[in-house]
Amino acid sequence: MSSATMDFTGLEVGYDIPALPGMAEADIQTPCLILDLDALERNIRKMGEYARAHGMRHRSHGKMHKSVDVQKLQESLGGAVGVCCQKVSEAEAFARGGIKDVLVSNEVRDALKIDRLARLPKYGARISVCIDDPANVAELSAAAQKHGTTLQCLVEIDCGQGRCGVGTADAAVEIAQAVTAAPGLKFAGIQAYQGSMQHLESFADRKARLDAAIAVTKAAVAALQAAGLDPELVSGGGTGSYPFESNSGVYNELQCGSYAFMDADYGRIRDSLGDRIDRGEWENALFILTSVMSHAKPGQAVCDAGLKVQSLDSGLPVIHGRDDVKYISASDEHGIIEDKHDVLRINEKLKLIPGHCDPTCNLHDWYVGVRHGKVEVLWPVSARGKAC
Ligand SMILES: Cc1ncc(COP(=O)(O)O)c(C=O)c1O
Repeated sequence: MSSATMDFTGLEVGYDIPALPGMAEADIQTPCLILDLDALERNIRKMGEYARAHGMRHRSHGKMHKSVDVQKLQESLGGAVGVCCQKVSEAEAFARGGIKDVLVSNEVRDALKIDRLARLPKYGARISVCIDDPANVAELSAAAQKHGTTLQCLVEIDCGQGRCGVGTADAAVEIAQAVTAAPGLKFAGIQAYQGSMQHLESFADRKARLDAAIAVTKAAVAALQAAGLDPELVSGGGTGSYPFESNSGVYNELQCGSYAFMDADYGRIRDSLGDRIDRGEWENALFILTSVMSHAKPGQAVCDAGLKVQSLDSGLPVIHGRDDVKYISASDEHGIIEDKHDVLRINEKLKLIPGHCDPTCNLHDWYVGVRHGKVEVLWPVSARGKAC
């Protein structure tokens, strides 16, 4: 579902939706997610320009926003070549929403999921999937033949994360050869994503981990080339690492996601000059809009954004643009705010920068896009809850 097909007639603000296009920002019902559209567009353009300048394709990661509308913006403004997602159900949401190039940057092993995946090219999309086990080749091939489709396969190599992916270059060659021989499958390249270094604060520490990943990736590419299987795509990279892949000489596709919205946890990491990446490199575009609902005691205000509207796995949210008040704890429906000087007023609205954008977005049905104090768009979180 994308906003292009949305009809808001009959929907009630406050019950069905947090706002309607055209409303004043001050009238948005809280708590909800808001997007600063100017900041979002600047982030998207900037990543697009960076990728272009470095001869890289950018396949934006949709696991973060789960939104067909945001993805379309990344393609139209930022030149993104398509979307990555982690789950078949997310891939279905993007393909049904009209996205034409979808990579499931993950392994798919369950029979029903494989069948659904193999059906997806019928939506007119190029569908790619990761593979790290020769036994998966026959499963994917059988499903693609059943549906008369083609699945593009990226052999996933473990370049240091210790998650999915083969551990040796020989294993990558073995799978690539099997894919090449399998009807209905095409060997499209490799995925080499190092996720465990993305949030390290120091640029030098991140670079050291990515240098090691690049060495592993180069060895895999060399082995594939020696076997006559030159990988068309070498895909990987996130918000904390994209400069390294872009200058590696071996990667040609980035998979960054969080750069578009930013969050409090990512914002803390440092660029090459030692500055926080949310102080120049990227802007906060995503906020949880919340209202003060109680100030019964001195020094403490309570807002309406608690655990049910945000994920705290990567830390508490930060109140945007305010040094005088601090979000200090959360329970299900309440956020406790330290307000030492009792400056906050009932119904006053605050913008929270979420600790971790991906799981926070997955808790919401809507993005309210705002510009110059007005609601400009209301976008569904199209793949919200799509976890299968
Ligand atoms: C496979 C894969 N690629 C890319 C990313 C990059 O995401 P981000 O830019 O949000 O760090 C992730 C994030 O978890 C991922 O799992």
